[in-house]
Amino acid sequence: MQSSLQTLCLSLETLRRVKDRMLEAMERGLSHRTHDQATVRMLPTFIRAIPDGTERGEFLVLELGDTELRVLLMELSGDTCQKVTVKERHFPVTDAIMQGPGEKLFAFMATCLCEFLDGLRTRRTHFELGFSFPFSCRQTRLDQSYLISWTKRFKCPGVEGRDVVELLQSAINKQARYNIKVIAVVNDTTGTMMSCDASAGPCEVGLVVDAGTNSCFMAEARHVEMVEESEGRMGVVTEWGSFGDNGALNDMLSPYDHQVDQGSVHPGKQRFEKMIGGLYLGEIVRHILVELFSGRTTPALLTKGLVQTQDILEITNEQVGLATAQRVLRALGLEVSDQDCFSMQQVCTAVCIRAAGLCAAGLAAILSHMCSNRELTRLKTSVAVDGAVFRARSKFSQTLQQLVKQLAPECEVTLVQSDDGNGKGIAMVTAVASRLAAQRLQVNQTLALLQLSPDALGKVQALLRREMELGLKKETHAMSSVRMLPTYICATPDGSERGDFLALDLGGTNFRVLLVQVGSREQGGVQIVSEVYSIPPNVAQGPGTQLFDHIVECIVDFQTKQGMMDHTLPLGFTFSFPCQQTSLDQGVLLSWTKGFSASGCVGQDVVKLLREALKRRNHFALDVVAIVNDTVGTMMSCGYDDLNCEVGLIVGTGTNACYMEELRNVGTLAGEEGRMCINMEWGAFGDNGCLDAFFTPFDRQVDEASLNPGRQRFEKLISGMYLGEIVRRILLELTAKGILFRGRPSPKLQTPDIFQTKFLSSIESDGLALRQVCAILEELGLHVTSEDSVLVREVCQVVARRAAQLCGAAVAAVVEKIRENRGLEQLVVTVGVDGTLYKLHPHFAQQVQETVRLLAPRCSVTFLQSEDGSGKGAALIAAVACRVARHQRA
Ligand code: G6P
Ligand code: BGC
Ligand code: BGC
Repeated sequence: MQSSLQTLCLSLETLRRVKDRMLEAMERGLSHRTHDQATVRMLPTFIRAIPDGTERGEFLVLELGDTELRVLLMELSGDTCQKVTVKERHFPVTDAIMQGPGEKLFAFMATCLCEFLDGLRTRRTHFELGFSFPFSCRQTRLDQSYLISWTKRFKCPGVEGRDVVELLQSAINKQARYNIKVIAVVNDTTGTMMSCDASAGPCEVGLVVDAGTNSCFMAEARHVEMVEESEGRMGVVTEWGSFGDNGALNDMLSPYDHQVDQGSVHPGKQRFEKMIGGLYLGEIVRHILVELFSGRTTPALLTKGLVQTQDILEITNEQVGLATAQRVLRALGLEVSDQDCFSMQQVCTAVCIRAAGLCAAGLAAILSHMCSNRELTRLKTSVAVDGAVFRARSKFSQTLQQLVKQLAPECEVTLVQSDDGNGKGIAMVTAVASRLAAQRLQVNQTLALLQLSPDALGKVQALLRREMELGLKKETHAMSSVRMLPTYICATPDGSERGDFLALDLGGTNFRVLLVQVGSREQGGVQIVSEVYSIPPNVAQGPGTQLFDHIVECIVDFQTKQGMMDHTLPLGFTFSFPCQQTSLDQGVLLSWTKGFSASGCVGQDVVKLLREALKRRNHFALDVVAIVNDTVGTMMSCGYDDLNCEVGLIVGTGTNACYMEELRNVGTLAGEEGRMCINMEWGAFGDNGCLDAFFTPFDRQVDEASLNPGRQRFEKLISGMYLGEIVRRILLELTAKGILFRGRPSPKLQTPDIFQTKFLSSIESDGLALRQVCAILEELGLHVTSEDSVLVREVCQVVARRAAQLCGAAVAAVVEKIRENRGLEQLVVTVGVDGTLYKLHPHFAQQVQETVRLLAPRCSVTFLQSEDGSGKGAALIAAVACRVARHQRA
């Protein structure tokens, strides 16, 4: 007898060891690296706050227990007293259900729900439901939870690995009786923690000692590596029942524990739980009794499950214990003496105290973890406790309370017994989920405006194709929003170009002056020296003469620095705005775009404006031989390395493309033979209203506030100058709806153009922790929660994806036209690309390419990024022009 009891006795020292091992196991569960192998899984719950008393609404609650299913209707009144009106019904859960097919279990729950609602005789048909599912689950959202493994007596095939919310929802839908939406799923420990009265001070730990055992607590989110969040707290379910499944408790297991384990539904699993949970305490005692009464055993004593845990707990009670012991032993068919009853009481007490000790060690581990992670010297918290083992007035609860204090002396804990089960807590979580779901709906409605289906993208492609045709034909040219401008470039480089050239590059983020030396490939090909100059907004938007004088000053500065003031060099001018050209060295500005609006330039030949400015500066050593759009410069620059490059694409501050068109299709020019590069000026696509159906209110706001309202409508959906501003407008709207930043925008966020497109690129960078997203937003003076950051990132994704897909649809229109022009089954073509958005955004390029693959399946398109900007292309064009001029002179 004494030796049996000896194996159950755990000294305080041993319990301290258990606590330390539990702490280690918890750390492993929390760390990303070791989570998958951890026995204590530390599962995130997506619960970020304990109740604050503002939760309200009427909710259905479904609690799956070990022997029964509870269905409740709860009302949270939202005032500080949190009145809870309960209507409830219990339905027994039989072994056949617990171990039958998963489908049956969920169908059973759905039927019980309907029966419960029938009994209410209500006219209401719509309900929101919170579901307490007390098993180990990998939760991914409040309403999504994948069962990892069954425990206790449950073993329904076909459920492990599946989302239990989805299973329950589809069972409910199958009944087709009531419209019930499952909006939250929680573990029973979480329900218990959330049930605790908010007015009694913070309760940040939940403990269940029922058939099984488990705990949960509010962890610091930054320590929960399985979620991205870094701010605030996150509820974590420890699933400590499986502590020891890797052998960590082997030195403490008694022979009876092995017997209990072997006889259980899940042998080898839940070793910690099997020393504490109500499902097992009776069995431990029974195995000891079999040994104690050896030679006198009865068939009942040898039958699993005939010693009840409730009796065991009662036997530990000093007043009634001995009488209960006698009753229980007799019921097992045993002839018993007083001494037997006394021994029985000792056994039960030992089993019970060991369970309480282990449970206290686990709880102490949680409390110490919380205290040290919050960098506190003292932690004060309540622990909400529920479950039949705790509720019974036995040695268990007393011992637990005493030992926790000894094992976590730095913590001041009050154990609070949850009075009405965890139903109220589930209703609380459901209330939060309900608010979030309503907000999600609003977010979805807002963002849906920006989400384009493949059909919609196909429509954009077809519309652009039509505008291209209209723009090319003489008779319809004026109707098209896409100008399809001739460039007088009839061939891509052939490698024979040579010489030194100056190039100007105006219209992107940087204004650059370049010296480009084109040699043979053996001489190293193209060498570039360049200098970046700034164009202040007052110059870009002031008088035109001032702008061109500034440009000439920059040229002079560059030539002086290069010591080449007296060389006369041919100059290629990359001018990234729409120009009507009548020759290579003449281009009439049709309109300014992007951030430019200098006066006196529109309608003028830009080359002439430059030459006049050179004259004003008495600078005669320059010969402007070509004016080139940046798309054309990019195509030429890439064409130098790849002969298939017949399209140029820019997605930067602005957006545009050019491509090689058959001269016979260019109705605005004479000539039938050969090809000419056409500057599409697709940024203006839609300026005639053909894209109106695609504009959202945010696009309209951005357009109206721009320098050129009503113009460049396609560009304003796609390019870097506008995406940040679209995002900012959406954020303002979501803030006004109270969904973001707690409804309070910062003054900075209200400043136009403050949200730069480069933020979109950084916020979407792969592997960028949410913490860094928060930091970017905090720069804008915003106080952000991690939910805010997640939502801002989503907005950025949606806006950038739409831009990339629209751009892809447009590229698809272009390459398809080239393919059809040439009557090819399959076209192989390269697109030369430049622009900060395309180059810097982490997903933009890929999304453009995916869209092109989808919409132009008969074109195999390679995207080649231009390395040296379009200045190199302008120089190559100048080189060709000089070669041709030399030929003509000769
Ligand atoms: C280039 C050019 C610029 C052009 C730019 C677009 O390669 O040399 O003239 O406008 O790319 O890029 P950005 O993102 O600066 O507007
Ligand atoms: C389950 C837990 C649950 C506990 C108490 C364990 O077997 O794995 O999820 O919280 O029992 O019901
Ligand atoms: C201009 C185009 C240019 C594009 C990319 C647009 O705003 O109209 O000419 O190619 O930006 O820079």
